[in-house]
Parts: sequence; structure tokens; C-alpha cells
Amino acid sequence: MDDLQTVRGWLEQAPRLCVLTGAGMSAESGVPTFRDALTGLWARHDPQQLATEAGFRSDPQLVWDWYGSRREGVARAEPNAGHRALAAWQAAHPERLTLVTQNVDDLHQRAGSTDVICLHGALFEDRWIDPCAREVRGEPACDPARAEPGRPPRCGECGNLVRPGVVWFGEALPGRALQAAEDAASDCELMLVVGTAGAVYPAAGLPALARQAGARVVVLNPQPSELDRGAHVVLRGTAAQLLPQLLG
Ligand code: APR
Repeated sequence: MDDLQTVRGWLEQAPRLCVLTGAGMSAESGVPTFRDALTGLWARHDPQQLATEAGFRSDPQLVWDWYGSRREGVARAEPNAGHRALAAWQAAHPERLTLVTQNVDDLHQRAGSTDVICLHGALFEDRWIDPCAREVRGEPACDPARAEPGRPPRCGECGNLVRPGVVWFGEALPGRALQAAEDAASDCELMLVVGTAGAVYPAAGLPALARQAGARVVVLNPQPSELDRGAHVVLRGTAAQLLPQLLG
């Protein structure tokens, strides 16, 4: 029996499936991955300048414009067959799938996946760079969506700047999302790890957590990754090729 059939058999026997996705999940939708040598976003920019609080504070307009270009790129992209296969499987097997993503695009959600655990925030969400002065006084915080237009938008009352609602290097992950992801990894019988280099923690630690808890771990990636070694099976292929074959 080949690896794909083996994993399909495991899937049928697994009451709880956890899927961890990374930037490779969206590659076939035309959204560049971070570490792709040809089109990777980091290859063209210094991540320390673009994806950190210090980088934003030193040049808010550059960082805001870069995220603006990413938002435009994602808005033009469509979910691929891999996104759709995950959403269809979740709909057909309620309560069995927990989807955890490192991606900040909204392609899983646009494909129909629900209750997606977003470890690194969301590209289309805005938040304030500093605590809102009203909130500090115990009043309702100002709404970033009502900020004065600009690059970046700014609070008309106190000058607070709007920043993208993503997790930057050096920032803590949203605690509830990380806890939910760790719970799902520890409770599943099967984990699929799709399209991630496994280079960034704590997300990259979830497959080991699943394995330690007795789950089978399967990596889906066209290239070798740092998570291959800890996997029971590695399926060499892309998200849009493999997920429909596996879940269909
Ligand atoms: N299908 C599946 N996997 C793919 C595909 C594809 N079509 N194309 C590329 N890949 C794989 C690559 O082989 C690589 O292993 O996707 C992975 C992408 O790796 P990265 O670009 O490092 O993305 P990711 O692992 O998600 O990065 C994790 O690091 O940059 C930070 O916060 C950012 O969430 C990101 C985190």
C-alpha cells in the first residue's frame, strides 16, 4: 500500500484530526511564501525592517504600504483546491477537524473553513500600535476602523497609529489561539502538517506535541522541511495536489 493510501486509512480511523498549515498552503493561490528563494517576500525586504514593531515605529509608512501591497495581493488571490478540500472535509465531518494556521491571509476562511485558529494574527485586521488613551482611562477604546485616513491611519484624538493585526517577530502569539492549538495537537489522533518549513516556533513545535501525545504526524510538502524527521510519513507534493487526494 503506498503512503497516500496508508494516510487515508489513518484518516478514516482518526476521531480527531488537527491540520497545521503554513505559507505553502497558499502558494498555489499565488501568495508568495516567506522563504521561497525566487518570490519569497523576505528575499526582497529586510524582515527586521518590515515585520517588527521597531521597524514600524522607524518607518510607519513603509511598513503600512508593504502590508497594503500584501492585502491587495491576497484580495486578488483565490482559495486553491487544497483550501477547498479542507473546508469540504470539515463540513462533512463536523467536530472532527481543528485547523491551525500560521498564515495571515484569509484564504482558509474564504474557502469556507470555520473556527480557524490563527496563530500569527490576521492580515485584514487593524489594531493600535499603542494602548488607546481612552481605554487606559477605563473608557471604551477608539475603533481603528474609524481612524483618520493616512499611511498609516491615525487617531484624530490622540495621534495613535493603526498597525496591521499580525504577530511581528519578537511579539507574543495570541495566548488563547496558542493554547487552543496546543490542546488540539495534544488531543488529536492524526496531524497533517501542510506547507510549512517548520522554522518558526512555537508553531513548529506543535507536530512534536502531537507525536508525544500519541498522534500520527504526516508532513505534506514538495520540499524537505525541518519537520520531516519527526513525521511518521512525508508526502512529497503540493497542498492543492495532495489534500484533495487525501480528503476527497
Ligand atoms: N504546497 C505545499 N507546500 C509548499 C508549496 C505548495 N504548493 N510551495 C511551497 N511549499 C512549502 C515550502 O517547501 C516551505 O517548506 O511551504 C513552506 C513555506 O515555508 P515558509 O515560507 O518558511 O513559510 P512558513 O513555514 O509558513 O513560515 C512560518 O514564519 O515568516 C514567518 O510569520 C511568518 O507565518 C510565517 C512563519
